[in-house]
Amino acid sequence: MCGIVGYVGPRDCTDVLVEALTKLEYRGYDSAGIAVFENGKIEVAKSKGRLSDLVGKMEKEGKPKGHAGIGHTRWATHGEPSDVNSHPHSGRRVTLVHNGIIENYKEIKQFLIENEHTEFLSDTDTEVVAQLLDFYYTGNPIRAIRRVMHEIRGSYALGIVFADRPETVYAVRCESPLIVGQGKGEVFVASDVPAIIKYTKDYYLLEYGEIAVLKNGAVNFCDLHGRMLEKELKTADWDEDSAEKGGYPHFMIKEIHEQPTAVKTTIMPRIENGLPNLSECGITRETLKDINNIFIVACGTAMHAGMVGKYVIEKLARVSVTVDIASEFRYRDPLIGENDLVIIISQSGETADSKAVLSLVKGTGAKTLAVVNVKGSSIAREADMVIYTHAGPEIAVASTKAYMVQLSVMYLLAFEISLAKGKIDEEKCRQLTAQLEQVPEVIDAAINKVVDECQYISTKLITADSLLYIGRGLDYALSMEGSLKLKEISYIHSESYAAGELKHGTISLVEEGMPVIAVATQNTLLEKTVSNIKEVKARGAMTIVICDEKAEIDEEAVDYMIRIPQINETLMPMVATVPMQLLAYYTSVNKGNDVDKPRNLAKSVTVE
Ligand code: M6R
Repeated sequence: MCGIVGYVGPRDCTDVLVEALTKLEYRGYDSAGIAVFENGKIEVAKSKGRLSDLVGKMEKEGKPKGHAGIGHTRWATHGEPSDVNSHPHSGRRVTLVHNGIIENYKEIKQFLIENEHTEFLSDTDTEVVAQLLDFYYTGNPIRAIRRVMHEIRGSYALGIVFADRPETVYAVRCESPLIVGQGKGEVFVASDVPAIIKYTKDYYLLEYGEIAVLKNGAVNFCDLHGRMLEKELKTADWDEDSAEKGGYPHFMIKEIHEQPTAVKTTIMPRIENGLPNLSECGITRETLKDINNIFIVACGTAMHAGMVGKYVIEKLARVSVTVDIASEFRYRDPLIGENDLVIIISQSGETADSKAVLSLVKGTGAKTLAVVNVKGSSIAREADMVIYTHAGPEIAVASTKAYMVQLSVMYLLAFEISLAKGKIDEEKCRQLTAQLEQVPEVIDAAINKVVDECQYISTKLITADSLLYIGRGLDYALSMEGSLKLKEISYIHSESYAAGELKHGTISLVEEGMPVIAVATQNTLLEKTVSNIKEVKARGAMTIVICDEKAEIDEEAVDYMIRIPQINETLMPMVATVPMQLLAYYTSVNKGNDVDKPRNLAKSVTVE
């Protein structure tokens, strides 16, 4: 995934592009570049490394000065991160930036070589598009763009400038997200809203196959056939602060602290007279009552939220739920029936594998429900029904608040399905919903209570080569997320394991001093989990136990006990998540890692 931006207006274009790119660095950060019209000529500056490296380079070598241009922050797919592979890429008269992937770039490259258009400098698929555009360009930019769009295959969003069309930026969307911001006398292009929120909250969402032309502080749109379009101007409900660190050292810790509010904003509008009401999302008890099987499909953290969903829906609603990794589900020819429900969970709403599941389900008769954070994203638009989570922008690559709100939606859904299926009555449902309403407060209390302990305990983890997360039932579902969080930002290997399964092989890994983090919030399973904690302790493990305030656990088996505030056992995952996030966060900080932008990762994976 990459981030693209563009600007046409009275401000210093380079400053605007750099500022906007800082808000998109979460999308990719191995190189950056800009192209700006300076005195009618396109000036390019680009560099391998972070945006700060590009800024440093421009400070030394001079920055392009002008009022219209495009910019890019890259997460390499074709060609290693290097100066030459950095965007923008150019043909003779065309310069462009690209987010996405061009599947048939090799054939096009071959075609261009055969037609004596052989000046390829980089290893990227993007340069092939620039050259193809140049090949077809005979003075009408829209005609050339449309021709190219008919020939290239893949997912892409492009920002384009033509050397003989000064002060004008062209933007194109096919799959990869793209918006056009409208300010007073100025216009912006960006892959995501946070990039422009400092300048304007008003934006147009480009749809598949649409082309935008930005000129003289205004924008015009046309479709793939060249027909002019009128588009609806939307207003972002985020303010600038939500895309800033707000005094916190990292986005991740800011986002951890935002969780109580995020959960409140997600659940409160969906509760009416003490009962869940998802009708504004197109979900009624009538639609849920005849559901046979549920499939929850997602990637990474979102899939882990689905795991919690499975336990809760099966327990309360007695409906069979299968949770699958999207990249597996899409190729395993799953048995989906007419009355089944396929739930796709995604923070970004743009994850390629999750998106592919929607096409797979079409035609099976099953209904699709998206649980998505980013409004207007592809998955949200393509599903039959959508529940938006209201976490606000999540910038840190490691997902925290998005996971938390996904959990809250899983609970609301479980309650609603249980009611629809007649497995609980309204009174029971009111009790459960009331307990869910208390969760934001309990999460807040948990953060305050455990933050110092987690900071301290993390100092014991930084030297570990490997560690284990164990738990049973909901605690097992949760330990999967704890383990992923830790490994993605601390770079310490970790594995999550069903506690009862340890003795079937994995316990042989335990040796003196190996940290084992046990989640033990499920009182009905506590005794069993404690036995497993003792087993690893007896083999030399350093045990860290996350449990509620009252859990009776033999202290001798535990090196560090993190006690969290108590709530109904079924809802405990939302509270127990907090120490796991904080342990991961402080371990990463203590190791001196780049917490918000861990190596090799991008915020959302829009390519397969
Ligand atoms: O945008 P999505 O929720 O579809 O993204 C899915 C995963 O890529 C994502 O949750 C990833 O695992 C996170 N970096 C984990 O913190």
